[in-house]
Amino acid sequence: MSQAQPKRATSRAHPADPCTVVIFGAAGDLTSRLVVPALYNMRRTGLLADNFSVIGFNHGKMTDNAWKKGLTTALERFVGNSGGKLDNEAWDWLSSQMTYHAGDFDDLTAFQSLAIKLKDAERRRGTKGNVLFYLATPERFFGDVIEQLQKAGLVDDGGPDGDFWRRVIIEKPFGHDLASAHALNERILKVLREDQIYRIDHFLGKETVQNIMAFRFANGLFEPIWNRDRIDHVQITVAETVGVERRGSFYEQTGALRDMVPNHLFQLLAMVAMEPPTSFDAEAVRTRKAETIEAIRPIQPEDAIRGQYGPGAVNGELAISYRDEPNVAPDSVTETFVAMKLSIDTWRWSGVPFYLRTGKHMGRRTTEIAIRFKSAPFAPFRGTGMDAFGPDWLVLQIQPDEGISLQFDVKRPGPRVELAPVRMDFKYADWFRAEPNVGYETLLYDCMTGDATLFQRADMVEACWRAVQPILDDWSQRTPADFPNYASGSAGPASADTLLALGGRSWRPLNSAAELNARRTAKPKVDTPPPALKSPERRAATKRAAAKKALRSTSVKKTTRGASVTRATRGAPAKGATRGASAKATAPVQKPKVKTAPAKKTAIKKTAIKKAAAARKAAPTKRAPTKAKPTRK
Ligand code: BG6
Repeated sequence: MSQAQPKRATSRAHPADPCTVVIFGAAGDLTSRLVVPALYNMRRTGLLADNFSVIGFNHGKMTDNAWKKGLTTALERFVGNSGGKLDNEAWDWLSSQMTYHAGDFDDLTAFQSLAIKLKDAERRRGTKGNVLFYLATPERFFGDVIEQLQKAGLVDDGGPDGDFWRRVIIEKPFGHDLASAHALNERILKVLREDQIYRIDHFLGKETVQNIMAFRFANGLFEPIWNRDRIDHVQITVAETVGVERRGSFYEQTGALRDMVPNHLFQLLAMVAMEPPTSFDAEAVRTRKAETIEAIRPIQPEDAIRGQYGPGAVNGELAISYRDEPNVAPDSVTETFVAMKLSIDTWRWSGVPFYLRTGKHMGRRTTEIAIRFKSAPFAPFRGTGMDAFGPDWLVLQIQPDEGISLQFDVKRPGPRVELAPVRMDFKYADWFRAEPNVGYETLLYDCMTGDATLFQRADMVEACWRAVQPILDDWSQRTPADFPNYASGSAGPASADTLLALGGRSWRPLNSAAELNARRTAKPKVDTPPPALKSPERRAATKRAAAKKALRSTSVKKTTRGASVTRATRGAPAKGATRGASAKATAPVQKPKVKTAPAKKTAIKKTAIKKAAAARKAAPTKRAPTKAKPTRK
């Protein structure tokens, strides 16, 4: 027997348990695009047991060969798209383990004949009675299929310590609101134990998502600053360039909020915001995540905005509006974009806003978690002409270009004291050779080995729906009047910008790397070099600036001395603005500053003030060149 064992903390990649995988919805898109390619990859990388079989369950008669032929075509396309060639040996082996089983989901006899086939597989292929039922069907069939399995006697496995196992993978969406998710949980928990249920969210199969825990908890560096003391806010973006493609009917019922937020985006949120678990045991991790989701304050309607794409251009190609997509109503009010602000009521996150956005037909495909650190104290730079600092960002790039980057300010080389934003990049591709994968391999493997860490527990799913329920309720009452409200290929509707602007913030650009590069290479606008930092001239200039201020206010107590000085600001956004918008958003370089004549150290009397003023007038408008301090190499 293979009992559920947490394996996440180890990297041992031994083959999974012998088993049969029964795929409900075997003729569907999910099966051909993801589930079967994942099984194929698992065979190639030695993750499948030799004692293995697959039964495809679907309504509609079809021969084994016809089913496998369709899958072969899909697999060839998938392998070809990733620049490879079909591994015939692996596919021949896998397809020889596969059979098709026709039947309706509400027909008990189809499940009884399935039971006979499973016995046969157990006997002939040595699968030891272990069965993984994969529900790759629309949500409305989940409850029915599970009940039929019970009636056919297919879910009993003698408990967690039985001699074999029966497990069920349930695809998202798990319910369509809090009430339906709760009802579904109640229904299936009458039939299955919680430890038999694997509610899948394929985002958790992504290496970069799994890495969030490793990154946070395996490095002493980050955890101490991972809180409200150091973090200003967090932005989570899942921007897609694809539209709804052939999924119009599904999407019309679902919309961006249900499709992406209580599942994918909240998974990212939970990973980034959870407290450290006491171990990598599935329950320890899932409990921490559940606590985090439960601490999300119910999101108020005014903190969420929705959008729908109109026509435009995506990746240089003309793109139609959502309402022109197949199987979409011409006056549809389904949202294809959503953005929201939420708060997590914990000691760690109190007062730190989390901004989430996701949309289709956007200008660039990117999934990232961006952590914005609080600005440095201003004091040492006071009077330098630098009136704002650039934000420090830690960005976990989930896809594409998987990696992590840290953005901070450095001194731009040259005589001028000017800051420039730069980025330190870690790219997965530079360090690791990745096996081709569709993201389901790890999840299937985990299910076959009884590791539920990356799957959703009943309470987690319901907590996710609970957090977004106020928005669902509000949106069902109010019809958006401005749809479509963003152009295909843009960064979403203007109201999404307003959501952040209210807090004095802005979204990171979808193409932040290009924007950063533009900022870094932007030519300084002033060609008069300022003195080097900490030079005597620099110190004098500061004093003069203070003196000038004092003179202006006519309550001058002291004079200052030193040469005239000019200083340019760094090319940073103006205070209050963030780097999000574009290179154009940078603050204009300040005009050359103070020029004062030497003045006496003694207290200034009125005549002295006059003299100083006259001297200033007489001073050259361009300051004398200051010798640059050599830059350290
Ligand atoms: C699915 C959604 O769950 O995730 C799709 O239903 C979305 O609408 C997809 O496109 C995004 O996943 P990925 O892995 O392509 O980023």
